[in-house]
Amino acid sequence: MLRFEDDFAVPGAHPKQPRPQFQAAGFPGAAPIQATREHSGAQAEGAAHRRVRVEDKLIINARADVNQLVPFKYKWAWEKYIAACANHWMPQEVNMNRDIATWKDPNGLSEDERHIIKRNLGFFVTADSLAANNIVLGTYRQITAPECRQYLLRQAFEEAIHTHAYQYIVESLGLDEGEIFNAYHEVSSIRAKDEFLLPYIDVLSDPTFKTGTPQTDQAFLKSLIAFACIMEGLFFYVGFVQILALGRQNKMTGAAEQYQYILRDESMHCNFGIDMINQIKLENPNLWTNALKTELKSMFETAVELEYKYAEDTMPRGVLGLNAPMFKEYLRFIANRRATQIGLDELYPGASNPFPWMAEMIDLKKEKNFFETRVTEYQTGGALAWD
Ligand SMILES: [Fe+2]
Ligand SMILES: [Fe+2]
Repeated sequence: MLRFEDDFAVPGAHPKQPRPQFQAAGFPGAAPIQATREHSGAQAEGAAHRRVRVEDKLIINARADVNQLVPFKYKWAWEKYIAACANHWMPQEVNMNRDIATWKDPNGLSEDERHIIKRNLGFFVTADSLAANNIVLGTYRQITAPECRQYLLRQAFEEAIHTHAYQYIVESLGLDEGEIFNAYHEVSSIRAKDEFLLPYIDVLSDPTFKTGTPQTDQAFLKSLIAFACIMEGLFFYVGFVQILALGRQNKMTGAAEQYQYILRDESMHCNFGIDMINQIKLENPNLWTNALKTELKSMFETAVELEYKYAEDTMPRGVLGLNAPMFKEYLRFIANRRATQIGLDELYPGASNPFPWMAEMIDLKKEKNFFETRVTEYQTGGALAWD
């Protein structure tokens, strides 16, 4: 079970590794770094062939051939890829008939519950497209570890499945597509979250962006943190709690089941991102400066405020046994969790989890990031039960 209170610890089995000196002997005849840093996989013309060695591999800025998956170095990435494939599911596998009847029944849901569902879908229908585009057009190009690329390819497909799932719910319920798909332009609490994220996405989707200097490596690290810890690790969680709370009350159980699968995927995305962040830190300790830590602290604080505003907007009154102030504590609790997972201090000491049942939801099954424990158990999507 994923326990939010678990301490973050870097296991001794993964000591800090010195960064290889690429220009030194060992790459006789190899082209200069800039010539091979396109990460396209093509060997520089005329470069001497040499077999890939584990020690040549790095998460970013490696010169080892990205087309060669093995020899494995980052087994945690490969294991997450295998686990993600084992968790495969498709939106159409979930029966939505009961949700459709509930939605059409004038007494099926309160206005506040309908408001929550529409706001939820309004955020998520575009959020996962942002996520997919960020991977494909940004992150992927900079990652030089083929095991991590393999997981990112799977993750990108999962983001497409999530967008499909949200669209499928919108279509099943017969919601106003224009209203839902434009919410990220038209609803200020959603727009504010996306505007916070966009600079971190834009920096990577600039075709001229390349890691390889302390400045660009830090920019990349910040973008990974904004994406894994804040977007996937924090901005999704008010929405997840709300829809899963509906499901716990036996309402909209089809949508809730879809969200449960998505939550399982997203918690693995978040933990995979955290693994990459921690590995980049180990391989490039010079990047983890006090100035960067201060900036990250401020990013987390802003994100908590934005997500809290979203909670207030989606729950102007108490509903489903939830209310916005409960989320203030929950978001602080999650922010602490994410911050400590990447080696920052707790931001809100003593914050506790008002929704312990969410920890149970995340336990599907045994996802953890590598730096905490080994993944040991998974189940396929079809084996899940909603009760
Ligand atoms: Fe997603
Ligand atoms: Fe994701």
